[in-house]
Amino acid sequence: MSKYYVTTSIPYINAPPHLGHAMEFIIADVLARYARQQSQEVIFSTGVDEHGGKIAERAQAAGLQPQEYADKMVKMFQSLSNLLNISNDRFIRTTDKNHQKGAQLIWKSLEKDIYKAKYIGWYCTGDEAFFTETEVKELGGICPNHNRPFERIEEENYFFNLSKYSNKIAEVIKNGKFRIIPQTRRNEVLSLIESGLEDISISRPKDKISWGIDVPGDNNQVMYVWFEALLNYITVLGYPDNNDFKQFWPADVQVVGKDIIRFHAAIWPAILMGLGLELPKTLYVHGFINIEGQKMSKSLGNAITPEDIVANYGSDALRYYLLRHIPSYSDGDFSLTTFSASYNNELANDLGNVVSRTLAMIEQFLNGQIGDIPPSEHDVALYEQALKDCRFDKAIEQVYDMIKGLNQYIDQEKPWQIAKTNDTEHLREVLAYQASSLLQIADLLTPLLPDTAEKIKIAFNQKVIHKMTENLFPRNDHD
Ligand code: MSP
Repeated sequence: MSKYYVTTSIPYINAPPHLGHAMEFIIADVLARYARQQSQEVIFSTGVDEHGGKIAERAQAAGLQPQEYADKMVKMFQSLSNLLNISNDRFIRTTDKNHQKGAQLIWKSLEKDIYKAKYIGWYCTGDEAFFTETEVKELGGICPNHNRPFERIEEENYFFNLSKYSNKIAEVIKNGKFRIIPQTRRNEVLSLIESGLEDISISRPKDKISWGIDVPGDNNQVMYVWFEALLNYITVLGYPDNNDFKQFWPADVQVVGKDIIRFHAAIWPAILMGLGLELPKTLYVHGFINIEGQKMSKSLGNAITPEDIVANYGSDALRYYLLRHIPSYSDGDFSLTTFSASYNNELANDLGNVVSRTLAMIEQFLNGQIGDIPPSEHDVALYEQALKDCRFDKAIEQVYDMIKGLNQYIDQEKPWQIAKTNDTEHLREVLAYQASSLLQIADLLTPLLPDTAEKIKIAFNQKVIHKMTENLFPRNDHD
């Protein structure tokens, strides 16, 4: 059985999860479910990033020790994963003992590429990122993402020899061994890498930040949070000795957002090269969700929570919107108005109705006795290609076209009129065609809207078919 490994990035736990995290979990879930459907053996890993100054600050503000704070916050991410029907096989926390041990082991294996030097420059704890003199000047000394002054840093740190890997990384991106999609992101990051990567600091002194993993052999330093967080993708598989690592690495797809592409397309490949490991096959970079046209932010008061939406509409409704209406290759907008219109028109009216109409007619006209349902053979090449290219929007569109086509078929065939004639065989054929198309639609929806797909399959996989007791997508006109 061939192996398939897919990961999400691991979100910080300094605030509750938002729609962006939800989208990333859902995307990786689609890939995992699709691979399982293709009979591949899958490990799908997600988790959380718990170290660093940002988390320590929040813990302090909450009057908690960082670990206590993390233990509390992690629950929200785990319950989001359940709520969204995410089928992850692993959930890593960077405070897990195995991760900490693994990170230290990796540090030691990389020692040939690590040296100590003075870092003079700038840092933003909100970003957990270092900034150069030029960047800080251009931004007027204030971090635009967090609206706070950059911190001036002058400290002894450990550095990783990233510059040494620039050419090799550029080469594997260019020759397609390390595929970055979409192409626009690939080009963007490639030009950054080709302009030459500088060595990066990978530790912080404990007197500045103590909430982190100890640097082996140095009691005064902890690892830079980004450095150890990236390692989660292999520590979760039990690097270096565990069979899972041996069988599942390299990852088939790593899913990340556009703001962290540099970490995943430059630093992570360099670490892997330093360890003599293969690079992930594909890095898929999604865009950002804006809310009502604005950047998602608590201070703007525009945070719509995934929990609220799922409570009102169900998890498949949210999955549908994020997969279809946030473009897979660019940024997209979420507004309750468009969400609710899409729900009512596309899910309640089109998909929900075609299922309930078909079931009702089979029950009413044939006493539920549909007989043999022939296999449906709509061409799915475009759907398959879309999923290979991480074009979730296009994949759903293909299924949606089938749903629309089926509704048109019913309107043309008018089974209720055939029922008035005595041509039962023709009536049965028409309804069996509808049922068979719906079974194929359910198959295609399995990775995308797993609950809905399951309900359709259960409804039509019986000897005697009845109306559903509940609507798949009841109309919801409240928002
Ligand atoms: N902890 C790091 C990742 C470490 S991976 C080794 C981090 N965390 S994060 O919580 O800030 O972001 C987690 C993911 O959510 C990232 O892929 C990021 O791009 C994504 N998103 C954050 N805001 C987003 C939107 N507004 N829209 C879509 N995704 C967004 O970075």
